[in-house]
Formats: sequence, structure tokens, C-alpha cells
Amino acid sequence: MKTTAIAPANIAFLKYWGKRDAASRLPANSSFSMNLTNATTVTTVEFSDEYTKDLVSFDGESVSSHEAQRIVDHITVLRTLAGSKKSARIVTKNSFPKGTGVASSASGFAALTVAASGALGLTFRERELTILARRGSGSACRSIPDGFVVWEKGASDDTSYARSIAPSTFWNLRDVLCIVDTSMKKVSTSEGHQQVSSSPLWEKRQQGIDRTLSCMLDAFHARDFVRFGQLVEDECLSMHAVMQTQIPPLHYWNDVTIELMKSISKWREDGLPVYYTIDAGPNVHVLCEAKHEQQVVSLVGAIGGVSRVIVNAPAEGARTVTSHLF
Ligand code: DP6
Repeated sequence: MKTTAIAPANIAFLKYWGKRDAASRLPANSSFSMNLTNATTVTTVEFSDEYTKDLVSFDGESVSSHEAQRIVDHITVLRTLAGSKKSARIVTKNSFPKGTGVASSASGFAALTVAASGALGLTFRERELTILARRGSGSACRSIPDGFVVWEKGASDDTSYARSIAPSTFWNLRDVLCIVDTSMKKVSTSEGHQQVSSSPLWEKRQQGIDRTLSCMLDAFHARDFVRFGQLVEDECLSMHAVMQTQIPPLHYWNDVTIELMKSISKWREDGLPVYYTIDAGPNVHVLCEAKHEQQVVSLVGAIGGVSRVIVNAPAEGARTVTSHLF
């Protein structure tokens, strides 16, 4: 059976950085994100006796042997659950550049989990799907449910899952994603997660993180953009402070990233409610309410070095679609 799924990338307002268990990707803390309308992955999976081995390809982009192996390992988990011995063909297409901190692993493993489960005839409830996606890439579990999503850190494999806390219609936020560099990351997030405790700031971050999440959720439910945006920006800086003081240090920003960060503070001083967050890459997610979208798009477009702007609204989660990639 051939099945195709689409999944959104997500932007974390409260970040997942550090794991309690690397193999099953149990996170050190709960995290909170929004699915993105215009940063998506589509994946088609077909299991068939016609294939003598698993074939992985990214439509129009190169795929490293390490990436291909991670995908094969993930479908092998599902294949074993289904009791199948068939090989698969997997074709994936991203709507955004891969490997630049736009969380291609999140949308990628969410789409792969939904497509491969469907192609194997497995039916799961959403919670189980998020657990399976998490094993492929932690942040992928947050791309399965709709809209605004909390990934509960849980105490075990069964209890570390993601759930929607509000539909995409709850708050008309925008993530104006500024692409400033499309080259691949040098250090993968999976490697970075493993070194968190070498940062002297790590424990301090962890001590306050449950309180940060509860304050952020309060501001979110009240739709208080200024309180919410400031908490999100502070949280981003807290994660990057850990990254930059880990051994070896991870410096994901470039000159354009920093110029954007400073400009956003200036625009705010001038009265525009706008905040930023940044994942494991140099690209900047500029957050505003829908009513300020046009103004933000024209301001970021005037900054040299911003090569592309992708405007995202809150999106639905992963789902199957009827048109296939092959
Ligand atoms: C900085 O989900 O890519 O984007 O579980 O090892 O695949 P693995 O890590 P990954 O880490 C994402 C880290 C982040 C923050 C976040 O999305 O919460």
C-alpha cells in the first residue's frame, strides 16, 4: 500500500534542549510549540515485494548516508510492529531548505511516521503516533497534533507524548521566518543535545523551566502578546546561552542573525509589538500578531542578507493526503 502524508514544521516557544534518555529521546523538560503553515514536508512511502532493499530519496535534494540510515531505522521500528518483511521506497519533499534550523527533522519524522504507519496498515491513536514520531526525532512529536502543542516530558516512553492545547484558530499569530543562510548545520542537534550538562548554565535553566512554561501558558491563554513574546524571546536566549557555553560551544548565529535581533529590539522601542525566537541555526523566527504582518514583512525585507521570508500562520498537524510523490 502506498501512503502520503504532509506534516508542518513547528517553532518551539519553549525549547527542547537536552535529553534524559538519548536512545528513546526522552526530553529533560516539557516544551511548547506552534505548527507552521508554510514550512512543510510531504512524504510518500510504499512497501512492496518489488523492492529488494529500502530506497530513500529527497525530491531534488541530496541525502547523506547518515540521514538515510536514520529514516530506515525509523521505518524498521514500524515494520517490526506490523510484522512485515517488505522493503520500502520513501520519497520526501520539503517546502523549505533542509538542515538550516527550520526543523526539517520535525516535519520529516512526523510525515514519515504517519505515511509509513498508513502504508503498513497500522492504525494508531494520535497520542501513540506522537510517541512513535518522538523516537525518530524529539521535536517531531509536536508536529503531529493540531495548532499549539505541548510535549509533556513524561516519566517514561509511554508518558512522553505531545498534545494540542489549542487549535490553530485560537490565536492569529504570525511567524515571519527570515532565512539568512541555507547551508547545512555543522553540528547536528542530536549531537548538541548530548553535551548540555557541560554548560555551567544548564542546571540553572532547568531549575526555572517548569515555572517558565506555566507563565508562558498563562500569557498564551490570555492572548497577552507582549507578555508572551517577551517570555518566548527570553527563553530563546536562555537556550542559546546554554548552547554557546557547552563544550564544544555551539554558535548558530551569523552577522545577519544578530542584526535582525538588534533591529527587532529597536522596532519594539519604536512601538511595534514584535519578538524573535531562533532554533539550532541562524534563521530568525519573527513573531507578531496578524495585524502587524505586513509591517514586519517590509521591515525584515529591507535588511540585507535576508534571502527569503516565509510567513507562517498557526497550522494543523500531520495528516494523510491523496496525491503521491511517485
Ligand atoms: C533547538 O528534535 O532536532 O529545535 O531529538 O535529537 O532529533 P533530536 O533533536 P531535535 O531538537 C530540536 C531542538 C530545537 C528546539 C526545539 O525544537 O524544541
